[in-house]
Amino acid sequence: MAAFLSEQNLMWRARAREVAEKVVRPLAAKYDKSQEYPWEIKEAIAKAGLMGVWIPKEYGGAGGGVLDLCLCVEELSRACGGVGVLYAVNALGTFPVLVGGTEEQKQRFLRPVAQGQKLISFALSEKYAGSDAGSLRTTAVKDGDSYIINGEKKWNTNGGAADFYSVFAVTEPNSKSRRISALLVEKGTPGFSIGKVEDKMGIRCVPVVELNFENCRVPAKNLLGEIPGHGFKHAMMTLDKARPGVAAQAVGLAQGALEYAMVYAGYREQFGAPISSFQMIQGMLADMGTKVEAARNLVYVAAMAGESGAPNVSKLAAMCKLFATDTAMEVTTNAVQIFGGYGYMRDYPIEKYMRDAKITQIYEGTNQVQRMVVARSLVKESLNLKYLLDYIPKEIQQGVNDPESLKRLAEEAARVAEVEPHTA
Ligand code: CAA
Repeated sequence: MAAFLSEQNLMWRARAREVAEKVVRPLAAKYDKSQEYPWEIKEAIAKAGLMGVWIPKEYGGAGGGVLDLCLCVEELSRACGGVGVLYAVNALGTFPVLVGGTEEQKQRFLRPVAQGQKLISFALSEKYAGSDAGSLRTTAVKDGDSYIINGEKKWNTNGGAADFYSVFAVTEPNSKSRRISALLVEKGTPGFSIGKVEDKMGIRCVPVVELNFENCRVPAKNLLGEIPGHGFKHAMMTLDKARPGVAAQAVGLAQGALEYAMVYAGYREQFGAPISSFQMIQGMLADMGTKVEAARNLVYVAAMAGESGAPNVSKLAAMCKLFATDTAMEVTTNAVQIFGGYGYMRDYPIEKYMRDAKITQIYEGTNQVQRMVVARSLVKESLNLKYLLDYIPKEIQQGVNDPESLKRLAEEAARVAEVEPHTA
């Protein structure tokens, strides 16, 4: 794998690995237990220059790409999945500014994050708008030179710790496709407060909270891009850039769990031999290692596709998030299995990996949503493959071999993919 990584990629990976091993791993259990924000870890990450990896140089960052970000997330997550997201969620918060912000907004909000002085978070989900993000209800009403925000946000990762919030709200309730805009809200703005702080199964060192907005007035110049109605598109473009980061968190978690399982299997003796000498354990380790490597490669390819602006970036981002996070759940569960009874106990490090892995299948789009994104993309691509029908014997195309049925099929495919129907 290192063969296709550049000098720059390897440099960021090495720096993140050093922080992970020297600072993160020794403190992982402590913050998992206390469920407090690990400021000392955040400081070490910032000191190593990791906070601005993905931010362009003109906004105070290091000018690296999504692949560099993913490598850092992977290394941190190998030691602690919570710290992986504590770091990655800042990229998620900055991506709306990067994809849709004005020059002034980029200078104002990206620079302090890149320099490790401020933290940022992404506020899209609501109680009644999880997977169906477009149905969110928080409102932002224009009032002179300001917008007044009312409503609440749910499952906000980094909330309370963060200084800046990319908040998605309804600005044009009667518009179908221009309903939502994003606004940049600063901590301490009157009317903005932190609500319920969640008690979580995993990623316990990073806060997940509710955000409350009650007549919260923000300057109109904080509306992302200063043009209303582009919020949903900006949210989707953000998630395309951010999903490889969750996938990298999953790869790191899976790799970390695999390494503990490898070491434990060599040390633990049963029936007079290390359990790593038993074929059933060997088979488990082999499958775990193979799946982690496959996931890692898909994540890196998706991250590079995102950087090059490839047309299939949404599909690859969804595919890598789906595959890597399902892999992480399987591998971390099997790692607990290899540890046996000890693996189930909290004083061993392995059950935390399984708890941390679970959320990766849920946030930044459930894996059901990722499958939907992938399937929509494949159905759309199928329209360019219609010539293959010539090679498929008509007898097995039950009911579709007449022109009317073919037209209906093309229309259905177009409806799912929301494109013009392909007419033969
Ligand atoms: N890039 C740009 N535009 C996009 C896009 C993309 N990837 N995907 C969709 N759009 C555009 C469409 O072109 C369409 O534009 P028009 O209205 O101009 O035609 C518009 O957005 C609506 O698109 P869809 O009809 O496809 O939207 P939908 O309502 O069917 O929803 C969805 C699609 C994929 C299910 C989307 O709602 C989704 O991704 N849901 C999951 C939400 C999610 O991931 N939430 C995570 C919250 S953040 C989090 O979890 C962070 C954390 O805590 C760490």
